[in-house]
Amino acid sequence: TPAAGPQPLRLSFAAVAKSTADVVSVPAGYTATVLYAVGDPLDAATPDYRNDGTDTGFENRAGDHHDGMEYFGLNAAGTARDAAGSDRAILAMNHEALTDQFLHAAGTTPNPRPAAEADKEIPAHGLSFVEVRKQNGRFAYVKGSAYNRRVTPLTPMRIHGPARSSTLMKTLFSSVGTDCRGTINNCGTGITPWGSFLTGEENWAGYFTRSSTDNTARGGATARSVVSLNRYGRAQGAASRHGWETAGAADAYARWNISQVGASTDGTDDYRNELNTFGWMVEADPYDGTQALRKRTALGRFAHESAAFGLRAPGRPLAVYMGDDSRGEYIYKFVSAANWDAADANPANRITTGDKYLDAGKLYVAKFNADGTGQWIELAIANPAISGYATYTFADQADVLVNARLAADALGATKMDRPEWCAVHPVTGEIYYTLTNNSNRKVEPTGTQMALDAANPRAYTDAPTAPSAPGNINGHIVRMRETGGDTAATGFTWDIYLFGAEAGMDPAKVNLSSLTADQDFSSPDGLWFSAKTGFVFIQTDDGAFTDVTNCMMLVGKPGQVGDGATRVLQYTKGDGSTLDVQTRVGATPGADTLRRFLVGPADCEITGICETPDGRALFVNVQHPGESISKANVTDPTKYLSHWPGNAGYGAGGAGARPRSATIVITRDNGGLIAADGDAVL
Ligand code: FEO
Ligand code: CA
Ligand code: CA
Ligand code: CA
Repeated sequence: TPAAGPQPLRLSFAAVAKSTADVVSVPAGYTATVLYAVGDPLDAATPDYRNDGTDTGFENRAGDHHDGMEYFGLNAAGTARDAAGSDRAILAMNHEALTDQFLHAAGTTPNPRPAAEADKEIPAHGLSFVEVRKQNGRFAYVKGSAYNRRVTPLTPMRIHGPARSSTLMKTLFSSVGTDCRGTINNCGTGITPWGSFLTGEENWAGYFTRSSTDNTARGGATARSVVSLNRYGRAQGAASRHGWETAGAADAYARWNISQVGASTDGTDDYRNELNTFGWMVEADPYDGTQALRKRTALGRFAHESAAFGLRAPGRPLAVYMGDDSRGEYIYKFVSAANWDAADANPANRITTGDKYLDAGKLYVAKFNADGTGQWIELAIANPAISGYATYTFADQADVLVNARLAADALGATKMDRPEWCAVHPVTGEIYYTLTNNSNRKVEPTGTQMALDAANPRAYTDAPTAPSAPGNINGHIVRMRETGGDTAATGFTWDIYLFGAEAGMDPAKVNLSSLTADQDFSSPDGLWFSAKTGFVFIQTDDGAFTDVTNCMMLVGKPGQVGDGATRVLQYTKGDGSTLDVQTRVGATPGADTLRRFLVGPADCEITGICETPDGRALFVNVQHPGESISKANVTDPTKYLSHWPGNAGYGAGGAGARPRSATIVITRDNGGLIAADGDAVL
């Protein structure tokens, strides 16, 4: 008999088993449909995608490596924004990177790169804005929609915030440092309270090269520009990721070489500062392609993932949470100078509303304490720890933001196990961060390796089932609660919501969340809360568990900071002595609070997620199926590690097809809420 009265929402699906099959698996009663794959034409003039390496014109096709994604509703006529529009929308998504070989007929040509190959690879990066529409109960993308457009690494955009006009931003393209070209390696995303799109530039540094002899005019090997380059993971003389600078003398290629070639002292006659125009959170108006995108420099320059807004209150500042995804990097928070005005939720002009909230404010970095508290420390030039930093002399606040990693070093922030996405619980306001993994987290670190600490407390050296690669190879998810629930707080409490692990591993040392076979996962990356159900969705980008299962997505119904217990993890050092690490572990999940919802096709990552406002359609990205073959230039289709989505009937090629990154849409066969049953919808 049905219970009387409203029932709280509960997870409502049968857990999906781990799998290495080259298919998308979803629970019984759900359907996953391919919606928008690399190469799909955005306009009527662009031919269908042959997927044989001969296709060109990626400026008018879906780019590669679909990543973060947000939903922007339209009214039924498609003429205006409708925050409740569940049948028609613009999907905004990132195209992070490439599976190179499948863009070309016979694989990738080494340096010097043919211009014809670079001319496909460059615009296969960037963003898509694509209209999707539900007709006869099914979503499809709308070829030829006036909203469809691509943003690429060559699209002109503007520099905003404190680093605008800085000497660090002056280039041949913009001698006054106010403009720049393009966005690249876009990973996570965000959606602003005023209905615009945020996209984070992640591994941008690797696309550039700087000569090993490019020192003299710039102050030698200890020059600040070299210290900066090194701190963002690049060495002088290191080859660029795709060698585009070798494809010709034209500016579109030459700009990827950031060596000094001009005689100016300010960099206005070459590309030496081009690197400084990347590494930002970028804002776009999905509804209005006439508005130039803005690089929001007040939010700092690092390997950006997602941007999650804290719960907002009228008259209080906005908080934007962000992570820097590299081993030992930091967790950041931006607090706006402007206080939230609810009238800005549906503004006349989204980009100028972004100017109001995102161009002035304070940028903080997180320090985690062993007792479960933490501090946000401001990256301010006025702080003596920054102005007097011995490793790098900051010129001004613009320099602090351009070199946020160095400034955070100076403040002694906590080095985390690769902060990927963050997300904010829509009811509690608690902030969740995936820490995807860190093979350099050690019981006894040497060199650049990192010691264990309370917020990064796990290494595998003495685990009974220790994998060959030690460190924190399965990652974890930390969560934080601002003091007083205030977005502007400078203190927080924290615990670890979940530790990734294989179910069979030792619950005392490795499987610290006691995950079962229906819950076990490794390397959490994408992270998102449904605004409809309040459930958390966890997506993986894994290499440690892929002998057992392809990457996946789980759904959880989390509690809150402090619902678990303090634990002491004991490690044995090489000399037989012990190391105790105290941490705080959230409540052990049960079958009613965490289940696997989806497993992707072979050799993919699951990333990017958004929903219709009615909670009845979920969009998810499948990134780089079959990517491991990318550098091998294998031409025998039987050797491809994936044939998805061709093997699922999408596009040309069938079961022998080259794999393609793609967006899928998931619906419930009974038309119900995704993953949930009950009445008490948020
Ligand atoms: Fe592009 Fe850190 O994931
Ligand atoms: Ca990611
Ligand atoms: Ca990742
Ligand atoms: Ca990946």
